[in-house]
This record gives sequence, structure tokens and C-alpha cells, in this order.
Amino acid sequence: MIELSRTVRFCLNDGQLPGEAGVPPSASATDGRHNTFASWPAMRGLGRFYQLTVDCRGQVHPVEGWFINIRHIDNAARDHIVPFLQRTLALTTDASAAPMGRLMVRILELLEPALKGAAEQIALELTPFYHLVIRRADMSQVIVKHEYEFSAAHRLHVSTLSDEENVRVFGKCNHPAGHGHNYRVQVAVRSPIDPRGHILPVSALDKIVDEHTIAKLDHKHLNCDIPEFANRNPSVENIAKVIYDWLADPVESLDAQLDAITVWETQKTHCTYRNETREPAAT
Ligand code: NI
Repeated sequence: MIELSRTVRFCLNDGQLPGEAGVPPSASATDGRHNTFASWPAMRGLGRFYQLTVDCRGQVHPVEGWFINIRHIDNAARDHIVPFLQRTLALTTDASAAPMGRLMVRILELLEPALKGAAEQIALELTPFYHLVIRRADMSQVIVKHEYEFSAAHRLHVSTLSDEENVRVFGKCNHPAGHGHNYRVQVAVRSPIDPRGHILPVSALDKIVDEHTIAKLDHKHLNCDIPEFANRNPSVENIAKVIYDWLADPVESLDAQLDAITVWETQKTHCTYRNETREPAAT
């Protein structure tokens, strides 16, 4: 089994209806589609830029050596998703109230005929830091992913080891006065799609994450200021688990479920914690 991901970049421009982008929406070739690396359709004025990532699974073709032609993914997105979203925006008086759950289901459905069931999940990247994911295996919910940041100091140190052992294991990270990081946190939440097609508003998630995570950690010394790290090494692994434990119950109070916490300590190191044994709260 092969897993393949393809990202399609496009812009939606106010007043630009399907067919006005340069070629008819039914065109199946890439002729007339310029700079598909950056985006096609291209940005006009204060347009909107999106990325759609399609994750596929399948078997490799014995002759061609691939299981899907990525042009089929590109063309399916540009022939069907771009006109659908342009039409939706043109007909919507308040885009901020769009039923995002229903739209995600429709986007996956629109890709199905061209991709013949190969798409396992899609991610609509509305901003670089706010993504919606829907999986074909469970189209009753959307995974909302939002990123946050905080700055903090920490010292990697275990009190049951000798000073020499701590230096040997943790090196520079054991410096007595500590050192700092600008941490990034991605909170992934499973949100059911309600009967009107809506999902958890990201502003509600922001409020909870701010109260239960960012306010606690930002500009703090993790070893000194955070009780959870008084006797626990503030490694990126433990930070991800502590944040998960802080957020699991508050997220359930929003009628959603915490899926995973990912913490980037640097651009080169990140850790994801997911509690696969956690029982859903009784309703
Ligand atoms: Ni560090």
C-alpha cells in the first residue's frame, strides 16, 4: 500500500465566477494554467489564498510505477473545488458564517468521481496555521488544527541523577540557569458536524487554549513556575503530554474531543502526543 500526498494552491478572487479564471472549468489539460506552484488561479488584489492537500492510498501500477497521476488530483481540485468555492463565496452574504463542516464534506464528495476513492482525507489550509481535515472513513466530523506560540525557559535536569550524569546525558541543556525556546503548539480537535453543517468555531478553541495553556506557560521558567514540571523533566515530550492533559477536559466542554497536541521546540524538533486510550466523556 502506498500513501501519497499532493497539495494544490489556488486563489479565490471576489467577483471572479467559474470560467473567468482564464480557461473553462471543464478544461482537463494544464494548458493556460500558469504558475501552479505558487497558485492558480493567481491572486487578484485582496483575494484569498488557500492550499488543499489530498492524501491518497492505493497500490502501485505495475507498469507506470505510480498509483495515481498527480495531474488528476490537480485537475480535480481546479475543475471542481475552485469553481465550487467561488460559487459559494459569490452566493454568500456572510462568508464568516459559512457551514465549514458541510463544505468539507462537499469538497471530498466533489473529488470522488475523478479520484475514484483514492482520497483518504483532505486538508483545507485556510491560513498557514489553521487547517481543517476530513477523513473519508468518518465524514461526520472535521479535525480542526490551530497553531499557537509561547516563549519559555527550561533546564533539562533529573534530580535522581548525579550532577555529572546530568551533564553527560543532557549536555548544554543542563546549564544551571536554563535556556529558552520559542515553542509552537498545534492543537488538533475532532469536532462533530452539527445539523446545520457547522463545526467548532476556532475562536472558542483560542479562548480555551489561551486560558489553559498559553497564559500558564508564556514567558515562564518551566522548572520553577509550573508545578507539573517540579519533579518532571520539561522535555518537549513531557510538555506535549502536560498540554494534552490540561486541554482534554476543556475541549470536551465545547462538545469536541482533543485529538493530538504537537509541540515544536525548534524548527528541527517536534513531538506529537495523542492519548489513544482516553474514553470519550459520558454525554
Ligand atoms: Ni531546550
